[in-house]
Amino acid sequence: MIQASAPAKIILVGEHAVVYGQPAIAVPVSALRATVTVESTADACHIIAHDLDKRRITLGDTDDPLAILMRHVIAEIGISPPKLALHLRSDIPIASGLGSGAATSTAVARALCRYANYDMPVERLNALVYEAEKSYHGTPSGIDNTVIVYETPIYFVRDKPIERITNREPLLLLIADTGQPSLTKKAVGDVRHLVEEQRETIYPIVEKIGGITQSAREAMQQADLSRLGTLMLDNHRHLQTLTVSSPMLDSLVDTAIAHGALGAKLSGGGRGGNMITIVTADTQSAVTNALRRAGASHVFSTVVESTP
Ligand code: PMV
Repeated sequence: MIQASAPAKIILVGEHAVVYGQPAIAVPVSALRATVTVESTADACHIIAHDLDKRRITLGDTDDPLAILMRHVIAEIGISPPKLALHLRSDIPIASGLGSGAATSTAVARALCRYANYDMPVERLNALVYEAEKSYHGTPSGIDNTVIVYETPIYFVRDKPIERITNREPLLLLIADTGQPSLTKKAVGDVRHLVEEQRETIYPIVEKIGGITQSAREAMQQADLSRLGTLMLDNHRHLQTLTVSSPMLDSLVDTAIAHGALGAKLSGGGRGGNMITIVTADTQSAVTNALRRAGASHVFSTVVESTP
């Protein structure tokens, strides 16, 4: 059986500012994955999205991001379109800041490569998934596809070579879903208008977020988790100024802090989707229960392992 998969991701610090060339840190969430199983059929290459009412995506679907991706990958491999059904299943909630689009694209591209016995260089895979990301997001920074394709914590600056992060102490994160789907493209567009209309007040906020990301990287290198937590909260306050928080996100952040979390913030595009909070083994269950009581539709934990 030919199968391929890719993880979800979460942005630790730096979202939105990353669109303007500032650094951001993202980590993979390996427990949540998109998986593709390849089946030979009599029909032209198509995807069956089992978690989306078995929606069928064919190679000819002009604007569909996964169709665009399949066309690019098949051209890159240099084969004629194979007769295949690609069965796509995903544990990753959509439109919630967990990189569902980039993860499904990566899994589909890997499945096609595996089927064709083609060893695509990871940089090319990343570039092709980025092309598909454009049709979801408009002008994505490229952070989602990069952290998902490389599946390692990254310090990401747009159009720069990726840098892996040294993380001296495992990070215990809770990810809480507001249950409110939100379109990143809209939030990114609104921030762009804000930057254009009020550049003098808003651009310094973007730069401050970049500074927070640099400090967060140092905190991870020094295993200073309480500093990392404080930086995450500062980052959340700046994201509020950029208008991408929401009453629900603010309430979940306040709840986490009130129950002993080291830090908390919205993650991803904002306005809905997910928030993240950094906890310890001692505070994990109190914070989880409090987030559920505060209305989070789903709370799960993930560990960012230490890296050399
Ligand atoms: O909503 P997500 O997790 O896909 O994150 C988007 C991150 C932004 O910085 C808001 C946009 C981008 O392209 O980097």
